[in-house]
Amino acid sequence: MTEQQIQHWRMITDDENVVWLHLDKSDAHVNTLSSVVMQEFEQMLHRLEQQTPTGVVILSDKSSGFIAGADVHEFSDRTDEDEIFAYIRYCQSLFERLQALPCPSVALIHGYCMGGGTELALACQYRVGVDEPDTRIGLPEIRLGIHPGYGGTVRSTRLLGPLTAMDMMLTGRALSARAGKRIGLFDYVVPQRHLHNAARRIIQQRPPVRKTKALHKMLSLRPVRPLLAWQLRKQVMKKADKNHYPAPYALIDLWEKYAGADDMMKQEARSVARLIGTNSAQNLIRVFFLQAAMKEAARQSSFKAGHVHVIGAGAMGGDIATWCALQGLTVTLQDQSAERIAPALGRAARLFRKKLKSTRLVTAAMDRLIPDPDRHGLGRADVVIEAIFEDLEVKQQLFREIEPLIRDDTLLCTNTSSIPLQELGECLHRPQRLVGLHFFNPVEKMQLVEIVHADNTDNNVINNAAAFTKQIAKLPLKVKSSPGFLINRVLMPYLLEAAFMVQEGIDPGLIDKASVRFGMPMGPVELADKVGLDICLSVAEILTSHLGGKVPDILNDYVSSGYTGLKSGRGFYEYRKGKPVKHRAGEDNELIRTIQDRLILRLLNEAVACLREGVVDSEDMLDAGMIFATGFAPFTGGPLKYLHSLKLENQKQRFEEFNKKYGGRFEMDAGWNKLLC
Ligand code: NAI
Repeated sequence: MTEQQIQHWRMITDDENVVWLHLDKSDAHVNTLSSVVMQEFEQMLHRLEQQTPTGVVILSDKSSGFIAGADVHEFSDRTDEDEIFAYIRYCQSLFERLQALPCPSVALIHGYCMGGGTELALACQYRVGVDEPDTRIGLPEIRLGIHPGYGGTVRSTRLLGPLTAMDMMLTGRALSARAGKRIGLFDYVVPQRHLHNAARRIIQQRPPVRKTKALHKMLSLRPVRPLLAWQLRKQVMKKADKNHYPAPYALIDLWEKYAGADDMMKQEARSVARLIGTNSAQNLIRVFFLQAAMKEAARQSSFKAGHVHVIGAGAMGGDIATWCALQGLTVTLQDQSAERIAPALGRAARLFRKKLKSTRLVTAAMDRLIPDPDRHGLGRADVVIEAIFEDLEVKQQLFREIEPLIRDDTLLCTNTSSIPLQELGECLHRPQRLVGLHFFNPVEKMQLVEIVHADNTDNNVINNAAAFTKQIAKLPLKVKSSPGFLINRVLMPYLLEAAFMVQEGIDPGLIDKASVRFGMPMGPVELADKVGLDICLSVAEILTSHLGGKVPDILNDYVSSGYTGLKSGRGFYEYRKGKPVKHRAGEDNELIRTIQDRLILRLLNEAVACLREGVVDSEDMLDAGMIFATGFAPFTGGPLKYLHSLKLENQKQRFEEFNKKYGGRFEMDAGWNKLLC
């Protein structure tokens, strides 16, 4: 046995002349294919070409997984198209040399295998995945505003067929080991302990390499491609506007024009090089970094919970408890009686079945979620989350009761959506231990959690809360306790402006259309109905009572008539089978522009005020929060990134114009001058 090591790769040649090529990127938690890693890979390839081994196995030494993809940092600095093109061609040539090795090549995959990692695996003759829930394989480049560039579009469409491969690339979806096996991405999935033996056996026995199926060849024939491409474009158009998200369209064009052609590789590289320079890709890459920064901020503490005690099994508490149990924690769930806990358990069972599928895993998750009306879990829990009625006195009464019963080191959290933390904490002996964990509804879908702190909150407590949030696979955003915190405060003026427009008689469908055209995932009128007009009204009343402003009468009128939105079957829209009945909205471009400006300027103005008041630490974190909690047009990079593309003078005029027309709602915040000077 011989071993050679360079900075990131280790090459072991065993007694059977099989080369085991280990990637272990130095100074990094995860393996990425940075340019240095690729240059070293070239050195390894050179040795393999000289050495003629019996077989090559590529594997990762990182516990987190195989390879997370190319090093995205390198793409955020480079925008010179020709330089990027040359680099991509270089990487493609390495994978072609890997594919051309005269011996069998096997990729052994555990944990994450994404983007460039999957493309490397596709250049191997065989792929073996570990049969564990954390094995995830995919080509998610579309989420960064590009598409695969290291031969991934060519090899995946050939191996999996255009229907499956295009679906995978267009959605950017990650697949489990078994799903990957089903579509043919993995040749074998095996338990971790059999992984190395599986590779040895493949190299000894050389089973037939998976070939392109006849049907896949047929679907890629020149006369068939335009039809399929048309279908794909139609699907994509429902989700992504071409002006905002050019990448999926470029991918379809590439396949339609060049599938099967000798120069598809070259065209793939050209297309990616072009896309990387677009604002859309640069902003989506920024969003990717913002997400990473939020996770990084959670690393300031090593706090890890085993047991969570949730008080209040209503809409929020029940779902928070369920989510924590789904993430593997032991959860005790307290309410005033067992009957009040039962509906939450029913919802939990449904979610576990949907997410976990296997009966064994569902049963285990149900076992972790323990109804606890007599609060036996309180004294043992590492984290206590209060989610009872939104009433200061009721909450304070509860805190007085529980403070002597919980451990000194227990993280004490409240899910209050509006009560200032300092007021809540007044009843505690140690108010500095109380922190807000503001989850959003529905808990299962919303990634963001606001970590709310008062001036006197202990810093360690804030960091522990962020670490706990990350532990349960949510994104923590630290915010100062102030009315509406950050997200509701910035979103509410946008929703209220939409309500004012409905009150003026503007068609709700047109308002939503204008907002979606701007890039929002859903229009504000439909969103308000979905959140519940009663909830919007109560948040709006709290905010206006602290910050001034007016709640549109229409909101009060609708709520008092029982029209609370989707849940009552009628709000601003009428609902049939859970869907809003929308009339065909017109195409008045001038009006659409005005609607967009009214909505977005109110949102931006509040964002500027929050930043000026220090509700959130930085522009980056504000952008991240708004994107991950509200879906604010990701291709813009977030509200403040978008704001920086505007001209101060133009905006001043627009504010003045709107202020004259619509009353004092459009008072430009003082912070604009500093941001756009
Ligand atoms: P809910 O009314 O659905 O549930 C409250 C639950 O608390 C009820 O089951 C009630 O029996 C229980 N409860 C009340 N007093 C209790 C006590 N002393 N001991 C034990 N259990 C008690 O309310 P929801 O909507 O779940 O709200 C809970 C908290 O979450 C509130 O502070 C609310 O502001 C906050 N929140 C609500 C959101 C929403 O969209 N509903 C979003 C984010 C936060």
